[in-house]
Amino acid sequence: IREGHGRTWAKAILLGEHSVVYGHPAVAMPLHDLQMRATATPTAGPSMLHSLEYSGPMGDSGPGFACIARAFEAAREFSGRMDQSFEIVTTSDFPHERGMGSSAAAAGAVIRAVLDACGREASADDLFALTQMAEQIAHGRPSGLDAAATSSPCPIRFQGGQMRPLAQRIEGAQLVIADSGVHGRTREAVGGLRERYEADPDGVGPLINSLGALAQAGIAALDDGDAQALGSAMNRAHEVLAELGLSLPVLNRLTAAARNAGALGAKLTGGGLGGCVIALADSAETADAVASALRSAGAPTAWTYRMRTSEANR
Ligand code: PMV
Repeated sequence: IREGHGRTWAKAILLGEHSVVYGHPAVAMPLHDLQMRATATPTAGPSMLHSLEYSGPMGDSGPGFACIARAFEAAREFSGRMDQSFEIVTTSDFPHERGMGSSAAAAGAVIRAVLDACGREASADDLFALTQMAEQIAHGRPSGLDAAATSSPCPIRFQGGQMRPLAQRIEGAQLVIADSGVHGRTREAVGGLRERYEADPDGVGPLINSLGALAQAGIAALDDGDAQALGSAMNRAHEVLAELGLSLPVLNRLTAAARNAGALGAKLTGGGLGGCVIALADSAETADAVASALRSAGAPTAWTYRMRTSEANR
């Protein structure tokens, strides 16, 4: 037994949020520069957790940390070391409760740190299953998108509960992710859309289908290395999401500011009604201009992320 380390990262949904709930594909991007790190140090006393504002016994960490506590238990169990106490520390480069996947990322990092400390090997499928177990505590019935994307080396396609790595051949482009400063309300957004769909399937259904088609177009654009086409799909997706009542004035203002500063495309990302926006810029210079325009338009934080080509083999 020794000190163990685990590392995961943030995720952003590029296209297909909401329509994925109705069986269409969605695309999620791992944001490798925005890391979540965990260390697991063997200790003699009770297990301790230091995460965000909490510092104290793991067992007293409360509902806000239930996902981490469950991840910790699952990893000790998997390693056959339920008797071993640890001091767990998590540190993150990105905020929580903004649709960036922080709960799955924290669970994944803690699981990796504990397994590393115990010298226990695990397959990608084992790691995914352990992370999902922890996410179920936090979210009830998580789709698995966050658990997969926060540890994937490449973009992933998600449809009907199935995940597939995606090829990404856009060179030199950057994503800009900006926090609106308003907590996302995914559950409310998903429930509200369901009600509107049931009340008016002929009006709402085609809009949901068009989000699915735009995600499909985005998958083709990534594969072809076509940043213009990806940007257009993102712009159109934002319009449709807004038409479906999932945007907010602040999200419309931020996406407009990004486009005015030269973004090829901009949209809300994730559940909507708050959370983050995501924009695509064709170069590092444009990305910097877009990020500063987003900050001027009121975003408390904006991150730029360089897209890396990747093949889809896993
Ligand atoms: O807000 P996030 O990043 O958890 O994304 C929610 C994505 C939805 O499609 C709106 C809901 C879901 O379960 O897929």
